[in-house]
Amino acid sequence: MREKELRELLADMSLEEKIGQMVQVVGGLFAEDATITGPMQEMGFTQELMGQVGSVLGTFGADTVKEIQRKYMEKQPHHIPLLFMLDVINGFRTVFPIPLGQGATFEPELSEKCAQAAAKESAASGVHVTFAPMTDLVRDARWGRVMESTGEDPYLNSLFCAAMVRGFQGDDLSAKGNIAACVKHFAGYGGATAGRDYNTVELSDHTLREFYLPSYKAGIDAGAALVMTSFNTLGGIPSTGNKYLMRDVLRDEFEFDGVLISDWAAIEEMIYHGYCADGREAAKRAAAAGVDIDMMTGCYAKNLCALVRDGEIPEEAVDEAVYRILELKNRLGLFEHPYKDADGELEREVILCDAHRRLAREAAVKSFVLLKNEGALPLEKDRKTAFIGPYTDNRNLMGSWSIIGKPEDVGTLREAVAERFGAGVQADGGSRYGRGALGQERFASDAQAEGQDALADGTISFHAGSPVLGNSMKVEGFLGSAEEPCSDAEAEAMLAEAVAAAKEAEQVVLALGEHYLQSGEAKSSGIISLPEIQLRLFREVCAVNDNVTVVLFSGRPLDLREISQKAKAILEVWWPGTEGAAAIADVLYGASSPSGKLPMSFPYCVGQAPVHYNEYSTGRPHHPGADKDFFRSRYLDIPNKPLYPFGYGLTYTSFSVSPVKLDRGEMTRDGQITARVTVKNTGSRPGTETIQLYLHDIAASVVRPVRELKGFRKVELQPGEEREIGFTITDKELVFLTENGRWESEAGEFEVFIGSDSMTENAARFRLL
Ligand code: BGC
Repeated sequence: MREKELRELLADMSLEEKIGQMVQVVGGLFAEDATITGPMQEMGFTQELMGQVGSVLGTFGADTVKEIQRKYMEKQPHHIPLLFMLDVINGFRTVFPIPLGQGATFEPELSEKCAQAAAKESAASGVHVTFAPMTDLVRDARWGRVMESTGEDPYLNSLFCAAMVRGFQGDDLSAKGNIAACVKHFAGYGGATAGRDYNTVELSDHTLREFYLPSYKAGIDAGAALVMTSFNTLGGIPSTGNKYLMRDVLRDEFEFDGVLISDWAAIEEMIYHGYCADGREAAKRAAAAGVDIDMMTGCYAKNLCALVRDGEIPEEAVDEAVYRILELKNRLGLFEHPYKDADGELEREVILCDAHRRLAREAAVKSFVLLKNEGALPLEKDRKTAFIGPYTDNRNLMGSWSIIGKPEDVGTLREAVAERFGAGVQADGGSRYGRGALGQERFASDAQAEGQDALADGTISFHAGSPVLGNSMKVEGFLGSAEEPCSDAEAEAMLAEAVAAAKEAEQVVLALGEHYLQSGEAKSSGIISLPEIQLRLFREVCAVNDNVTVVLFSGRPLDLREISQKAKAILEVWWPGTEGAAAIADVLYGASSPSGKLPMSFPYCVGQAPVHYNEYSTGRPHHPGADKDFFRSRYLDIPNKPLYPFGYGLTYTSFSVSPVKLDRGEMTRDGQITARVTVKNTGSRPGTETIQLYLHDIAASVVRPVRELKGFRKVELQPGEEREIGFTITDKELVFLTENGRWESEAGEFEVFIGSDSMTENAARFRLL
């Protein structure tokens, strides 16, 4: 449709019909037998409105979508098609590593491909819009949603956000296989105080703009069709009603002209924040802030008409919002092709196709971070090996946002190892499997205990078909649970069996981790160590075997103090997705080498949270071992530095990085400097290293982080091979938000660090004239 026709369509719509476009409901309400009951009517959802709502959340499946669309369009006064939206986060049915794991690849181009594959599968299944990427900057491992982010760095997050937007959307939203992306959660949601989900966010405007906003902006600049508001307040004002954030920053400064959708029920939640007296005021404030779609409350449905008729909201504001929604439908080509790609045959063809599975395996391999290795990895093929722990035979490797992925599509580690060596793994005496315990005491909080008694006893079993918490999440409206509890005696027996297996083995692989529903939305955690029962398993196994490799599954950085002391090797595998187990087997046996780098610091312990590498120096910086006095910015009992810092990760070979060489010592604003190092593979295996460039502005009108990532390069080198890597530094790398409130550089001295992680001391200096 051309713009003129869209405008004519808008002009022909009644106020009620227009407001319908601004309302989103779940697909279940379109079911044949769905009735709008009393409470729904109370909320403002009438049968009439259902014939006019603009979009649907959580429904997918080509046939289902087509049926709903067909029936709806017959009744809709202007035959305007519905938009179908879904959380396609780290994949659709083929599940890729969680976004935090994708961040560890330091390879945004790979995430672009993953997003593209997810778009293809979901589009075939009738989805038009995904609520991704989430690009909230995260610093606090207590916050369960760190798993949905690509980490703590604004530069890295920006690259990933833009890449994912490109991957989902392609060049043309109407083209086959493309869906619209929604950058979320605007803004600052990752700064939840004390890591408690939905909690207040307190950020200075400076910190917000310097650290938190850039990656949303990058997604918008990449053309994201939608933005989602965040649940939190910022400076005391909920984002969803925050005119400064939504009008001044998002629309005016960032020039975002796409659709702004509220987060789930966030408009109504402005009442509970204590910002609005009732639904009418909430609707008024959200509309005034320019929120186009009300996700899942009746605030717009019930109040917007009256607000317009009473002159409290100008009808032009509604027109503006509805035009944006119609425009999105038009960009997706829905007026001409209301089913877009929805096609049962195509679904069967693309979903879980070989190409997507291969991509999932590649992404998983590249997401793994080798945190420690004292010669334990790669495993020796001929040695007697015991695989122990709750994740040796577990299909729940996808993470909590994989709402479409099915455990039955996922191989287990046991299967992957068996496949590698043929069927006779146990019979040949080479490898054995011992059980452990998953331990769920961290779940036994009051809230969880209410509905999940089975978890409250602190122990659940782990062997094949082990603890399954229904991963239906909101798609079906509840967090289900189906546990397989085991008695204390059974748990003791498993432990004994595991220890016996470890005793006999020459090398042990302990597959440990969080439960996959322990990270994600509303999964904040005050304790970020492994459950006690797993630590006990770890201790007892280490007591009888000193060659233990820990394969660690988690959606967040964990406190690994004890593990890091006793294990010979630690491989962080996050939630690796559909092909995760095969990828782990590839890496354990050296068919592939690990190459991931941490996108988020692993704190020494929870007391450090929030911790991040790009901190300020303070007036009393602490230099361990060299402090002149006691009054330094430090802890009495723990170090300042995280256990494993941002950018850190080992591989199966070693690299040397030569001292940083600059081609000149001074530069002007329109000039440039090239910083060079030579990287050499000093080990005996081929390997990939990610060389990172950090800058530090030594004195500035607003204090600068001690280091800021400004570039990186992945290099693959054969043993003995070396390569020179050059980074070009221009004014673009030096600008920051100065005391003038402008993005500009300031003359003075800068440090350049180039190395293998954010703690490198390999440095040189130059001066900006
Ligand atoms: C989450 C969003 C998500 C939405 C729709 C909310 O609870 O915060 O990230 O997109 O639900 O499922």
